[in-house]
Amino acid sequence: MHSGAASQGHPRASWLGPRQTMLEVFIALLSCVVCRICAFVMEVIIQPSQEAASLLAAKMIASLVRRKPAAVLGLATGSTPLGLYRELARMHREEGLDFQRATTFNLDEYVGLAPGHPASYHHFMRENLFRHINVAPGNTHIPDGLSCDIPATCEAYEASIRAAGGIDLQILGIGSDGHIGFNEPASSLASRTRIKTLTPRTRADNAPFFAQGEEVPHHVITMGIGTILETRQVLLLGFGLKKAEALAAAIEGPVSPMVPASALHFHPRAHVILDEAAATRLERTDYYRHVFDNKPVWQKQ
Ligand code: PGA
Repeated sequence: MHSGAASQGHPRASWLGPRQTMLEVFIALLSCVVCRICAFVMEVIIQPSQEAASLLAAKMIASLVRRKPAAVLGLATGSTPLGLYRELARMHREEGLDFQRATTFNLDEYVGLAPGHPASYHHFMRENLFRHINVAPGNTHIPDGLSCDIPATCEAYEASIRAAGGIDLQILGIGSDGHIGFNEPASSLASRTRIKTLTPRTRADNAPFFAQGEEVPHHVITMGIGTILETRQVLLLGFGLKKAEALAAAIEGPVSPMVPASALHFHPRAHVILDEAAATRLERTDYYRHVFDNKPVWQKQ
C-alpha cells in the first residue's frame, strides 16, 4: 500500500512507474549521489624521499602512456616536477617510452612574458621536458601570456582541451598558500581558465626563478579549479617542509576556496604523493601508509 501523491487524489507524475512513489524516486536518486561520492578517492602516498616520490609519479605516467599512447597529459611547472620530468626523459631515452602521439596542456603561464623569456613556462617546459622527449611540438599547449585578448585566449584553451577529449592525467604542484595551478586562495571552486592576480606570497616564492632585480609578473593565465576537477586523474606532488602546512590543510582540513588544493576531495581520482618532510603536519600518516601497503591487487592496476 503506497501513501504517495496518487493515493491521496493528487495527479500522478507521468514519468513515475505504476508502483513508484515520489519518495522512492527520491531515495533512488539519493543513493546514486551517495554511490558517486563514495567512489571519490583522495589517495595519500608517503614516500621516503622526493626522488622516490618522483619515480613513482613517473611510473604512473609511463603506465598510462604505454596503455594509451595518445594520452592527454596535464603538465605543471616549478621546482616540484623537475625530478619527475628527468625520469620521464630517462625512460624515453633508455626504455623507449614513446610520447609521439601524446598531447599536453600546461596549467598556466605568466601574462606579459614571451615564450623565449627564461622565466616563462614555455621556456621551462622546452628546457626541462619537451626537448628531451619525442612529443610533437604541435601537440603541446601552454596558455599564451602575450595574448591581446585574454578572455578569448582562455576560452580557446578550454575549447582545445575539450577537442582533445579532455585531460587523462593532470600533474599538480601545490603553492605554500595551498594554490593549485595559479588558483590562489579564494578562487572559485568552479573556475575555468582565466586571468588571475598572484598573491605577494606566490610572487615571493617564485622570485628565485627570475633574474635578480627583475619583477615577477602580477598576472597569470591559469586553468581553473573547475577545469582541473574535470580531468580523469590527478597526481598532486608535494615536497619539503615548506609545503607541509598547505598539504595538511588540503588533505585533512575542510574543503574551502581558501585552500584551493582541498577541492581535490571532489575529484574522482586524486593521488597526493609526498616525501616525509611534506607529510610532517598530517595526523593520519599511519592510516595512509597502511592503506597504501594493503591495497587490493585490482586497485594497483
Ligand atoms: P614549486 O611551486 O613547485 O616551485 O614549489 C609549486 C606551485 O606553486 O604550484
